[in-house]
Amino acid sequence: MGDMQVIENIRRVVTCGAGGPLLGPAMRELGVLADDPCVAVRGGRVAYAGPRAGLPAEFAGADRVDAGGRVLTTGLIDCHTHPAFVKARAEEFEMRIAGASYEQIAARGGGILTSMTAVRQADDATLLAQTVRNLRRLRNHGVVVAEGKSGYGLNTKDERRQLAAIRDAGELADMHTVRTCLAAHSLPAEYRGGDEKRAEYLRLVMEQILPAAARDGLAQRADVFCERGVFTPAETRAVAQAASRLGLHVTIHAEQLHLTGGATIAASVGAHSADHLEYLDDAGAKAMRDAGTAAVLLPGSTYALKMDKWADGRKLIDMGLCVALATDFNPGSSPVCNPAFVMNLAVMHCGLSPAEALAGFTANAAHALRLPPGEYGVVAPGARAAFGLWDVDDEREIAYYAGSNLCEVMTCDGWRS
Ligand code: NIG
Ligand code: FE
Repeated sequence: MGDMQVIENIRRVVTCGAGGPLLGPAMRELGVLADDPCVAVRGGRVAYAGPRAGLPAEFAGADRVDAGGRVLTTGLIDCHTHPAFVKARAEEFEMRIAGASYEQIAARGGGILTSMTAVRQADDATLLAQTVRNLRRLRNHGVVVAEGKSGYGLNTKDERRQLAAIRDAGELADMHTVRTCLAAHSLPAEYRGGDEKRAEYLRLVMEQILPAAARDGLAQRADVFCERGVFTPAETRAVAQAASRLGLHVTIHAEQLHLTGGATIAASVGAHSADHLEYLDDAGAKAMRDAGTAAVLLPGSTYALKMDKWADGRKLIDMGLCVALATDFNPGSSPVCNPAFVMNLAVMHCGLSPAEALAGFTANAAHALRLPPGEYGVVAPGARAAFGLWDVDDEREIAYYAGSNLCEVMTCDGWRS
């Protein structure tokens, strides 16, 4: 392929604005080109999106790409995933179906620690191969940008190995990755059994693991699982502040299984996002809005854990927060790698419209990750040339065909550089 391409025979182009978060009613107005549109690309960046009749003359000799009459969106952005795992946890799936809860399984030393043991035991080649496999599972469903968390290493060496695997897997899978150190995901077994050991692990996280994760740009962000029985709000604040001092951006797993105040902590430390939020209260939501902390909803995990409390996305959008969606793809609480299915859940259970759900995986996910505005999450001049081609007649059908995969990713040379 040459340096210039024109994508044509497109049914509709969904632009998702020109960059920046879509707040309030703007989340429902995605900007659609339906007048026999085309998209012209130069050097891996969008140069033109508009009617074919208006295509700039310089593209007359460009390579032509036939979109087959499909709907074109930007490639999706999955702003919360745990892709560096090496084994499924289907046995826990069976235990949960039989009545055990996620928290009971974790209390017995299963759950996150099961994935930790598998990661620690895997050699580098296996860890990389499995991480590539997991990122490709996302890409096959439309994702071109994935945030990826560590959190199954829980020591300096294995957290770094996970982050390196995510970085390298992104290259191999032709995806852009944003990497997050989640050393504060669970207390590893060797630090359980007393306050002193617990404090020792938290010191290890703040003084060794996070600095090692920040080195060489391996991670850009840090995350904490703030939850009853995991890490307290005070511990969350301390880890977040240590991360900020290292120049890492902060995101928090908050209010997933109980209301603990994690969202308020997230807002007070200037976190870019707080994620999950099933149990979020008004005070936490207001604090997040006022601090500009994005709300990332993960209904795939609410579904897989059979919870009856879903995040109230409707209220958060109407309050003016930046609401994004993500798969939370992981082997425990969300074995879900299909964003369109997550959009369906957000519509069915979180009060979003189909258009809002698509905005949650595009422009607003880009903002949750603070990607450069206008480069990701939109189809507009200057945007990276990575697209989703959807075999539907209208973008509202993306969230509607529940569980189907109707997306094919198309990228142009140089889109990541
Ligand atoms: O986002 N909530 C904590 N962490 C993950 C689950 C990780 C796991 O179970 O392996 C989540 O739900
Ligand atoms: Fe998560």
